This record gives sequence, C-alpha cells and structure tokens, in this order.
Amino acid sequence: MLPDDLAMELAEAVIIAASGFWLALPAMLPNSAAVLTGGGTPVDLGRSWKGRRLLGDGKTWRGFLGGAGAGVLLGLVMLGISSLAGWGDNGGYGPIGQALGVIVVLAVGSLLGDMLGSFVKRRLDVPRGAKMPILDQYDFLIGAFVLVAIAYPSWFFTSYIEGWNIMALITLLVITPLLHRGMNILGYRMGKKDVPW
Ligand code: CTP
Ligand code: MG
Repeated sequence: MLPDDLAMELAEAVIIAASGFWLALPAMLPNSAAVLTGGGTPVDLGRSWKGRRLLGDGKTWRGFLGGAGAGVLLGLVMLGISSLAGWGDNGGYGPIGQALGVIVVLAVGSLLGDMLGSFVKRRLDVPRGAKMPILDQYDFLIGAFVLVAIAYPSWFFTSYIEGWNIMALITLLVITPLLHRGMNILGYRMGKKDVPW
C-alpha cells in the first residue's frame, strides 16, 4: 500500500493530466477537422517563393476555417458540459471572457502552427504530404501553446507549468504523437488522406 499522502499526490497528478488534456481539446480537433473540410483554394493562392511553394496545396482556406470553426464549436460544447456538470471556473478556462478567448486562440493557433510547419517543410524542400517527424506531430500543438502563452500567460502558466501542472504538459507531449498517428490512419482508411501519416 502506498502511504496516503503519496496516493493523494498521485491522484492529483492524474486529475491534472486529465484536465490538461481536456483543456487542450480545442487545439487537437482542428487538424482532423481540416482534413474533412479541406480542399479548394490554397491559403498561399498557389504562390511560390524562391522556386518553392509558400505553403503548398495541403493548406486550404476551407481547411483553415472548417478546422478553426470545429475547434471553437467543440470549446463551446465543452463550456456547456462544464456548466451542466457544475464544474467551477468554466472547467478550467476561467472567467467567461477569458474562456472564450483561450478557446479561439487554441483553435486558430493550432492551424497557424500547422501552416508554419508546412512553411518550414517547403523551405527545406520537403514536398506536400511527405513525412517530417517531430514537426508533423507537434507543429499544431506548439502553435496553439505559444499563442495562448502570449495571449493568456497567467492561464497558461497555472494550467501547464506551475508545480504539478507540468504533468499536464508532459502528458500532452507524450499523447499527441500517438493521437496524431491514430487519427491519420483513420483518415487514410476513410479515404480522406492519401498517406497514413
Ligand atoms: N488541410 C487543409 N487545410 C489546412 C490544413 C489541412 O485543407 N489548413 C487538409 C489538406 O487536405 C491536407 C490534409 O488536411 O492534405 C492533411 O493535413 P496535413 O497533413 O497537415 O497536410 P499535408 O497534405 O501533409 O501537407 P504538408 O506537407 O504541408 O504538411
Ligand atoms: Mg501531413
């Protein structure tokens, strides 16, 4: 048997990790939603820079708007669930103005990070859809977290950095590549993606 205080600390760490995952969901959904809504006019309008596409045909306006919209919508549903369940603090997002702001920044930030990832890939002459380990799995999470850390620094610090809350960040860093891979295999089997990564 674990000593009571250690068991308590472990239980707290699990709750922190789960809550950190919950709070990050509006940053996780947009990528998959962009696969489903994407197509049509590319964000870079087909333009190139130094002989290589700015972003490539894999980044479209429809994917951006559909993905961001899906992330924000999910965030609103989560706020509804928090309120119905009687969780205080809007389930961890804080006062409503901040809660809405964080959700929008997470959803939009994740797709901006995804675009920055494609920009870097094109500069390194990696073609659209080709694998680029680490960057492919983390670009959206980095985009979302960097922007939210700038826009809502104290919320980001207390949720993902301070004390045991760092467990939430570590958990996300471990889970994200697995989820990313899983979702891409699903998208591939559904015929929505040409490659399973
Ligand atoms: N998608 C989109 N618009 C976005 C993001 C994604 O239309 N802003 C769609 C595209 O159909 C894209 C698919 O989602 O092909 C998968 O996204 P991703 O893996 O990020 O793009 P890749 O095609 O792999 O291109 P890149 O090499 O630039 O990452
Ligand atoms: Mg890809």
